Amino acid sequence: MFGTSARNILSRSTAASTLRSTRAFSSTPVARFASVVEESQADAEGSEKKKLMKEFKIYRWNPDLPNEKPTLQSYKLDLSQCGPMVLDALIKIKNDLDPTLTFRRSCREGICGSCAMNIDGVNTLACLSRIDRSETKASKLYPLPHMYVVKDLIPDMTQFYKQYKSIEPFLKNDNPPEKGEYYQSVEDRQKLDGMYECILCACCSTSCPSYWWNQDEYLGPAVLMQAYRWMADSRVSLDRPSRQSRDRSSCSIRSFLQDAYGAERKAKMENSLSVYRCHSIFNCSRTCPKGLNPARAIAAIKLEMATGA
Ligand code: SF4
Ligand code: SF4
Ligand code: FES
Repeated sequence: MFGTSARNILSRSTAASTLRSTRAFSSTPVARFASVVEESQADAEGSEKKKLMKEFKIYRWNPDLPNEKPTLQSYKLDLSQCGPMVLDALIKIKNDLDPTLTFRRSCREGICGSCAMNIDGVNTLACLSRIDRSETKASKLYPLPHMYVVKDLIPDMTQFYKQYKSIEPFLKNDNPPEKGEYYQSVEDRQKLDGMYECILCACCSTSCPSYWWNQDEYLGPAVLMQAYRWMADSRVSLDRPSRQSRDRSSCSIRSFLQDAYGAERKAKMENSLSVYRCHSIFNCSRTCPKGLNPARAIAAIKLEMATGA
């Protein structure tokens, strides 16, 4: 289905108008009138804005024409008529210039992770990336690197999701509370901060050289951080004392006992590739559009595996 030639080597204006409309519906008739006047003034100002022409060069590949090589197609947009984000530009191009341009998007606010792509050399989210407003420099947009391409800017995420499924990304506990909820202290809950926010956009994994070359076996930073998110959760089943805890003179009941499923999760990764292919280069943490630090989670897994904690 995906030709080898297709393997990729390599609105805030809407928000403003929504804000104005929200104001119009939530206040008195006088305020509503003022808001409508404000809106028409803003529209009039918009129509007088100076043109700012920007070139976008976008990766194109059509699976229906498998013998044709991928190309970079050029589009020119007037930025004075477009929202400020790269996703706004893509939507404008699709609506006004070329309906065949294909990309994923859903939330347009950095929540769904579907608009991840390589923008001017950086893996990031199109909806969170401001358009570089330099008229002389074209912006280049590619799909996430080193992934098979489904079409244009859409990478094939099959392997990534298969790896995510393999780490069993859910709570495993054989002794749930008899009634009510699982309790978790504030401190234990805080241990998940910086991991639970991951939106699985794959920007980090596809910026990792180890993942580029060993994608079949190395789990990659996004999936490894999720694996650790479930190891670090205090609500898992507890089993026997861990080696490290036994050596400590004073410790809490929880740290004295070992997370039974955590040990199982670690055992699955006890090979040369699943986790140890990470060489701590930190490309992953540098690129994460949500400001997370998958390399730190990987280091924590390695430490726990090395010390038997
Ligand atoms: S860690 Fe960051 S870059 Fe990686 S998948 Fe999660 S949100 Fe995306
Ligand atoms: S630290 Fe480097 S090798 Fe490890 S996952 Fe991140 S980018 Fe890959
Ligand atoms: S459209 Fe959802 S993260 Fe960009």
